[in-house]
Amino acid sequence: MNAIEKILTMLGTPEGRTDPYPLYAALHEIGPVIEVGPDDVIVVGYDAINSVLRDPGFRVSDQSVFEKDFPSWRANPVFVQAADWLLNLNAPRHARVRSLIARAFTARRVAGLEPAIAKMADELLDAMADRGADGSAVEFMHDFAYLLPVTVICELIGIPGADREGFRPIARDLAGVFELRDLETLPTINAAAVELLAYFTGLAARRRADPRDDLLSDLLAVSDSDDGRLADAELLHNLTLLLVAGFETTTNLLGNGLQIILQDPPAGQAVRDGSVPASAFVEEVLRFDSPVQLTSRVGYDTNLAGVAIGPGTGLTTLLAAGNRDPRRFTDPARFDPMRADGGPLSFGGGAHFCIGAALARLEGAVAFPRLLSRFPNISAAGQPKRRDTLLLRGFDELPVTVV
Ligand code: HEM
Repeated sequence: MNAIEKILTMLGTPEGRTDPYPLYAALHEIGPVIEVGPDDVIVVGYDAINSVLRDPGFRVSDQSVFEKDFPSWRANPVFVQAADWLLNLNAPRHARVRSLIARAFTARRVAGLEPAIAKMADELLDAMADRGADGSAVEFMHDFAYLLPVTVICELIGIPGADREGFRPIARDLAGVFELRDLETLPTINAAAVELLAYFTGLAARRRADPRDDLLSDLLAVSDSDDGRLADAELLHNLTLLLVAGFETTTNLLGNGLQIILQDPPAGQAVRDGSVPASAFVEEVLRFDSPVQLTSRVGYDTNLAGVAIGPGTGLTTLLAAGNRDPRRFTDPARFDPMRADGGPLSFGGGAHFCIGAALARLEGAVAFPRLLSRFPNISAAGQPKRRDTLLLRGFDELPVTVV
């Protein structure tokens, strides 16, 4: 086995997934773009990743790839929906759907959520305080990190409070599509896709009849306007995308950030006393331990850092490795929210740059200072449990004491 094979094998093991960063460092020593098979490269250099994401010649896996790799995709509701997801659309369709969604998903709408996010965070912190008042352990992932983002997305879309409880497990099941390693989980994921679509179809009918001040009503207004029309299926399918794309990712931002604080209490103190702005802390969490570790593209005839790429080449862009590129970041393994050379790749780049980046950043910037002021003594209580996944990096359990 050569060095590259060894590193890739390690990345596939639970230990490698627990701490992939030494393996990423070893990849950086090999080069920014590494051939790992006849039609497969992994891209680890910051600049190389950036140029792949910003170059429209590199395409995302769209319907044509589904067709080739998984001819029975149409029999699976999740893939029927995913075929309309922004993440899986290429130009020119991507630009049309994205601009229509962006018209409703505005900076104003996101900024307007700040008071609601603060209120939801405080309610969750109240419940944590009650549960942990006698010094017993509270589970941060379950009691906070998992609940805040999904509630915020429900608020954004306009899902009534009474319907939200049932949503969380379904959204989590659907998010399984990002880590599809075998077909065993597919029936659960399909069931979640069917249920969510039925729910959104009903809610859309209600909002069409009686619009409110929410994203869904705005999207319906866009889809009903004459210019550039968003088809109903495109709209509804991308609602399910918002739910899954914005949920576990932000959950992991919160969990990964808290774990850094638990291991390095002065980092938490600096956010608590304001000497480190919460937004700078969030940015460095994103760089240091990215909730989304990688994404992928399909190649075209070109050359990337000296490596020949062809139309059939699959590229895995390791965003989290780019975030630790020693050619880009001074002392990349050091957590330093005040670093002058920030700029993580965690939200991607180019046409597919995360549409929810401002919302995720806002949630982090609202949540961390509140959590830290409320629980100045927050400490680890036992071993955290990492999720055994590579694409979405985070914890299943992060037990803490809060008094
Ligand atoms: C810390 C939290 C988050 C992280 C790390 C993250 C990461 C990413 C990344 C890396 C991409 C680009 C994928 C690619 O180029 O292949 C992306 C796209 C996307 N994200 Fe996020 N995301 C987060 C939160 C959110 C939130 C809160 C939402 C919505 C409420 C959201 C919705 C989306 C959507 C719809 C896309 C597809 C955009 C397109 O293809 O045009 N994300 N995200």
